[in-house]
Amino acid sequence: MTMASVRALRSIEVGVTDIARSLHFFTDVWNLSPVGESAGVHYLRGTAAFHHILSLRGTPKTGLVRMVFDAADRATVDGLHAQVTAYGTKTIEKPAPLRQPHGDYGFGFKDPEGRNIAVVCGVKDHPDSADMPDRPRRLSHLNLNCDDNDATFAAYQALGFKLTDRTIKFRFLRCNSDHHCIVIGFDTAATLNHIAFEMTDLDSVFRGAGRMIDNGHPIEWGPGRHGPGANVYCYFVGPEEIPIEYTSEMEQVDDSYPIGTPEQWKWPPRRVDRWGICGPPSERVVHAGENYLFTDDGYRLDEWR
Ligand SMILES: [Fe+2]
Repeated sequence: MTMASVRALRSIEVGVTDIARSLHFFTDVWNLSPVGESAGVHYLRGTAAFHHILSLRGTPKTGLVRMVFDAADRATVDGLHAQVTAYGTKTIEKPAPLRQPHGDYGFGFKDPEGRNIAVVCGVKDHPDSADMPDRPRRLSHLNLNCDDNDATFAAYQALGFKLTDRTIKFRFLRCNSDHHCIVIGFDTAATLNHIAFEMTDLDSVFRGAGRMIDNGHPIEWGPGRHGPGANVYCYFVGPEEIPIEYTSEMEQVDDSYPIGTPEQWKWPPRRVDRWGICGPPSERVVHAGENYLFTDDGYRLDEWR
């Protein structure tokens, strides 16, 4: 029997203590576009068709509320629910109708390390999707620090993810032709490593980096070109110490891609990427990721029904 699979990382919801400050940052500096507000939650889009890629809500503590994956249709949502349940997930909702802009059907659950996930279909997306220089297109990937990488890997396999590469530090997982849209680390705690936004090209990554520097957010890691995925990168710390990345040129792969191993992904001394321009990431961005947590109850989609 064919496994059901999610087909994209659609959006994330972030809880912030100062919503005005984060809204200003993600619109005027990070260059997303507002598409509306409902019940105090602000929705922001990139240039791709997804209705929104980031939603911001005021919360007592800063944290990631949930990540949202896109499924093709209701049958796929039901298939994914069955797979995630069979994996052994205990904290999970039944698939049920949703209200726009969240989609028309979906469910929420917690992965084995407590991260909140929603699977949705039928979102009314935008008719326009042309690239615009210097504006993020969509989310590229989420990198998650894990205490139990094997358990997390198994849970994402239940969502249809496939392994693309493995290094000594990470497993890189894909659900479409992008080399990865989820990265899971071999760490000692379940926190966020960083959130990456896809720019249209290298020039836009650098223009975005310049705009960040102009606004008091220095480059915390980069510029560089990663090994696995071959994507270019600049990392920053945004408001409330949110670890974020501008990236571009992600390698496109299919099932013929040979899964890399830690033995193959080794760098010469001093190198941390393909170019060798930058050193390792700053302590600030590493700590920002290690301290960034998921909220407790973000798997519940009550408000969306
Ligand atoms: Fe990244």
